[in-house]
Amino acid sequence: MSYLTALLASGHLKAAFSCGNEMLDNYLHKQAGQDMKRKLSACFVLTDDYREIKGYYTLSSASIQRGQLPESLIKKLPLGYNDLPVTLLGRLAVDIRFKGHGIGRLLLIDALKRSYETSVASVASMAIVVDPVDDAAKSFYSKYGFISLPGSGKMFIAMATVVQLF
Ligand SMILES: CC(C)(COP(=O)(O)OP(=O)(O)OC[C@H]1O[C@@H](n2cnc3c(N)ncnc32)[C@H](O)[C@@H]1OP(=O)(O)O)[C@@H](O)C(=O)NCCC(=O)NCCS
Repeated sequence: MSYLTALLASGHLKAAFSCGNEMLDNYLHKQAGQDMKRKLSACFVLTDDYREIKGYYTLSSASIQRGQLPESLIKKLPLGYNDLPVTLLGRLAVDIRFKGHGIGRLLLIDALKRSYETSVASVASMAIVVDPVDDAAKSFYSKYGFISLPGSGKMFIAMATVVQLF
């Protein structure tokens, strides 16, 4: 089976998507399209027939404060950069019918690759930040090298680490 990721469009069957987390389901059903129109986030969906959504993720530009990063990373940054450019992987979810088949991994790799390519080609970004919804999500991201940002529920992976994956 080959899968495609594409920007959410009107032909996709949003209402049929259910990942078991009401907030993430509602976001896709009701808000993702509006957010795209307002340029608040870009929503990418994974399909195998152009219509049925097996999973989705969102990306947007964001910044984090220097003090939020671990000391080991701060040491490597020049002084004067207090707000650092990052990419926010705001949401990522897989439909319950397709969990456990590697789709979460495919979505995450697609999001990392897209973010990395954008950071090289057009808009600089030093890390990808996620805001895990619960401990299960934290454990999923940890598996792929995301590290907790001290003092917040967020996690990040440096772009310098992502580049080693591709
Ligand atoms: C978390 C989620 C995206 C995983 O999707 P999935 O398609 O079932 O995951 P995959 O089949 O691609 O699994 C890839 C790997 O991650 C592991 N994994 C999956 N869920 C995990 C979890 N909750 N904790 C730790 N590892 C997990 C799998 O065991 C697998 O490891 P392996 O390659 O060594 O076998 C999915 O369960 C989901 O949509 N959850 C609800 C929404 C959510 O929590 N989103 C993330 C934060 S916003």
